[in-house]
Amino acid sequence: MNFKNKVIVITGASSGIGEASAIKFAKKNAKIVLVARRKEKLLQLQKKLVKFTDSTLVCQCDVSNKTQVKEMTDIVLDTFGRIDVLINNAGFVIYGKVSDLSIEEIESQMETNYFGMIYCTKNFLPHMIEQGKGHIVNVASVGASFGVPGVASYCATKFAMLGFSEGLKHELSGTGVDLTVVSPIMVDTPLFDHPSFENFSKRSTLVTLNPNTVANAILKAANSSRLEIVVPSVARVGIWAKQNFPYIINPIIGSSFRKQLEKRNKSK
Ligand SMILES: NC(=O)c1ccc[n+]([C@@H]2O[C@H](COP(=O)([O-])OP(=O)(O)OC[C@H]3O[C@@H](n4cnc5c(N)ncnc54)[C@H](OP(=O)(O)O)[C@@H]3O)[C@@H](O)[C@H]2O)c1
Repeated sequence: MNFKNKVIVITGASSGIGEASAIKFAKKNAKIVLVARRKEKLLQLQKKLVKFTDSTLVCQCDVSNKTQVKEMTDIVLDTFGRIDVLINNAGFVIYGKVSDLSIEEIESQMETNYFGMIYCTKNFLPHMIEQGKGHIVNVASVGASFGVPGVASYCATKFAMLGFSEGLKHELSGTGVDLTVVSPIMVDTPLFDHPSFENFSKRSTLVTLNPNTVANAILKAANSSRLEIVVPSVARVGIWAKQNFPYIINPIIGSSFRKQLEKRNKSK
C-alpha cells in the first residue's frame, strides 16, 4: 500500500510506539488520526506533523469506553469518509504478583488492551469490509506467547489479542481486509513509568528496542499478509523454542523473572 492520502487511525498516539508510528506515517503523506486520552500531548504531536502532512485529526478518546470509541469512529468517518489502516496500539501494564494486584487492576488492563482493541475493531471493521479494503494492525507483545511472572494479567491481554486476531484474520479471507499483529519485545517508552515499576530493572531483558524500530514494523505490517511480525525477528526463535520445548524454556523464563520480582518486592 502506498500510504499517500490514506487514512490511518492510531490509538495510543500520545506517546512511545504510537507517536513514533504517527511521525513515520505522516512522512509518507498519510492522513493521520491521533487517538488517546491526553489531548495536550496529541495537540503537541499534531503541531510536529504539520511539516509532513496537511491532514491530521486529534480525537481525545478512552478506548476502554464503548461510547467514546463510537463517537471517535463517527468523527473519523464524517471527516474523511473512510479508514484505510487501524492501528490498535493503546495499552498499559501494571507490574506485580496476581496475589498483590486488585481485581480492578487486572480488569482495567483487559478493558484497555483487549476490549479497547475490540471496540475500535468492531466500529471500523464494517466500513473496511464495505470498502473491500483496509488493514488492522494490532500491537501485542512477545508477552502474547510467554506467561511471565509479574505481568501475568498483562500477558493475558496480549494472549487474548493474538488469539482474537488469528481467528478474525481467517474470517476476513476474501474480503480485501487483512490483519497483522506486531509483537515487540521490550521497547524504551514511558510504558514503564507506571508507579508499579518502581525498582524494576529493564536490564533483565537482553535487548531494549527503540520505538522507531517498532514503528517501522508497524508500517511493514500495514502492507503485510502475515499474521504476526515479531520484533526483533530473532525473538521468534525463543517463541518457537517455548512452543516446542516448553519443559526446558518455561522453567528458565519462570526463574529469571521470578528473581526480578522477588528482588523488587524485597526492596519495596
Ligand atoms: N514498551 C514496551 O516494552 C512494549 C513491548 C511490547 C508491546 N508494547 C505495547 O505497545 C503499545 C504501546 O505502548 P508504548 O510502549 O508505546 O507505551 P506508552 O508510551 O506508555 O504509550 C501508551 C499509549 O497508550 C495510550 N493509552 C493508554 N490507555 C489508554 C486508553 N484507555 N485509551 C486511549 N489510549 C490509551 C496512552 O495515551 P494516554 O495516556 O494519553 O491515553 C499512550 O499514548 C501497548 O499496547 C503496549 O502494550 C509495549
